[in-house]
Amino acid sequence: MMEFCQASIILYTELTSAENCLQWKSMGKNKLQHFAELKTFPNVIEPAVYPHTSRGVGVNWSERFGNQNPITLELACGKGEYALALARLFPKRNFIGVDIKGARLWRGAKTALEENLTNVAFLRIQIENLEHYFRLPPPSRRGQGVVGHNLNSQNIPPTAKLSPIITTVWIVFPDPFPRKRQANKRLTSPRFLAMYKKILAPGGAIHLKTDDLNLFNYSVETAIAEGWKIKEIINNIYALPKLNPLLAIKTFYENKHLREGKQIHYLKAAR
Ligand SMILES: C[S@@+](CC[C@H](N)C(=O)[O-])C[C@H]1O[C@@H](n2cnc3c(N)ncnc32)[C@H](O)[C@@H]1O
Repeated sequence: MMEFCQASIILYTELTSAENCLQWKSMGKNKLQHFAELKTFPNVIEPAVYPHTSRGVGVNWSERFGNQNPITLELACGKGEYALALARLFPKRNFIGVDIKGARLWRGAKTALEENLTNVAFLRIQIENLEHYFRLPPPSRRGQGVVGHNLNSQNIPPTAKLSPIITTVWIVFPDPFPRKRQANKRLTSPRFLAMYKKILAPGGAIHLKTDDLNLFNYSVETAIAEGWKIKEIINNIYALPKLNPLLAIKTFYENKHLREGKQIHYLKAAR
């Protein structure tokens, strides 16, 4: 059983220590099937199964999508409702949902495959490592042939070069990490904002939706302090007489918050 558990730890990076084997053993059969299935999905890249999340290794997203269309990221995507809804609305753009939780990504990836949405993919990583998957190649190498791979993580070539044009980042109901000592885990903390600046195209923007007013205020203040241009702030999106349809896309967590009577806050900031 110990061997069984050790193998599982490599597979399921949510579980990081041997003691979590107990937790793993109690997982439902469905969840295990989903984890195994996730590894076979052509629209999922799961480098987290490899030691050290392939630092410095890239993904040739243009080759992966078969086009040079601009990319929108959905961070902390959970089941990927934003990536899926936007992919249906904008077939000439590409969408990548990013999260570490395999069981949630499974739902989004499965839906994309069922609907044959070829302009959406999912990346299972810690968002802390995001920039390693979206680095621009050095200017001297841009436009040259690049090495790519299909989304099956086994094939990531260490020499892959990247050529993405990321115009938009959605951060949708991220964990608020309310304690001060956890502030740097917030996806709008200075270190994350600095990383988004590196990968976003000039004029690119981040969009935050959250129910958490403290996180919202923190995000507005941090974005201003870090030199982002505030484009839009809405304190309660559903109080607006007319809502931008893109803001009306609802995720699993948004539905939960709305059922609890919470207000939804929105921030758009450009780099
Ligand atoms: C509250 S859930 C929101 C999920 C989804 N956006 C929704 O609205 O239903 C937060 C998600 O962020 C993911 N997450 C939080 N921190 C992360 C990190 N550093 N790297 C990758 N995923 C992260 C969690 O795995 C979780 O799925």
